[in-house]
Amino acid sequence: MSQSSSAVEVPQHIAIVMDGNGRWAEKRSMSRLSGHSKGVDAVESVVRGCLCHRVPCLTLFAFSTENWRRPVSEVDALFSLLVVALRQHMGFLKEHGVCLSFIGDRFFLSNYSSLLDELGRAEEETRGNNKLFLNIALNYGGRWDIIQAVKGFVSDHPSFSPEDISVESLSPYFCLSHLPEPDLFIRTSGEYRISNFFLWQLAYTEFYFTPVFWPDFNEKSLTDAIGVFQRRNRRFGSVGGSVDCDFGDVL
Ligand code: FPP
Repeated sequence: MSQSSSAVEVPQHIAIVMDGNGRWAEKRSMSRLSGHSKGVDAVESVVRGCLCHRVPCLTLFAFSTENWRRPVSEVDALFSLLVVALRQHMGFLKEHGVCLSFIGDRFFLSNYSSLLDELGRAEEETRGNNKLFLNIALNYGGRWDIIQAVKGFVSDHPSFSPEDISVESLSPYFCLSHLPEPDLFIRTSGEYRISNFFLWQLAYTEFYFTPVFWPDFNEKSLTDAIGVFQRRNRRFGSVGGSVDCDFGDVL
């Protein structure tokens, strides 16, 4: 990572909170499930966009650790939709070199064994692909990720001392530590929250919020977001550019 950049390059990793399926449907007097179903089309469009712009990593927040608060019928329908979408799009994903992986707490998905089988199969069938790393966060929470990272570290270093804990020593235990951290975070539907998505990984990510509901987000919307990202001046805590560092007048 450079200390300062005008971000002219494409983001190496985009993370998206796909929000607004329910409101999109409500506005059309349709069921919430219809909104989620249209949301799958938006996923396809954004995957195409990433392939087209050569964005190597995309992570989509599909189901959070807090989404269990939804009616069981909606949770079940969402998981069924995911299974159907995976089956329908597997050919496309393989043909375009997409490597799928799922992040999140699988232990609490154990009641959904057919879903777990499907996730495992999709990961297996796309393993080795490297055009786009598509990560789907399912039963994922940023706080859960921090806790599982700390547990992983402690289990590997049972006699650690406080000085052993550092950004460098903990980082490898977080989800997706093998990929670059997100350069660009997108949230649709006009909400301005992280909602327990990546907490550790977003330390220097550029944020982009749009009022567009997720089912209406498409390749063009992605191109617009990337354009905004490319006009940002990223300094990573540095001062950037050529600045006068002579503080003689004040010190
Ligand atoms: C948020 O909209 C959306 C979700 C919780 C689910 C997202 C899932 C999909 C787009 C479908 C399956 C995903 C993949 C990766 C194929 P909301 O229901 O919170 O909308 P609202 O805030 O308007 O009610």
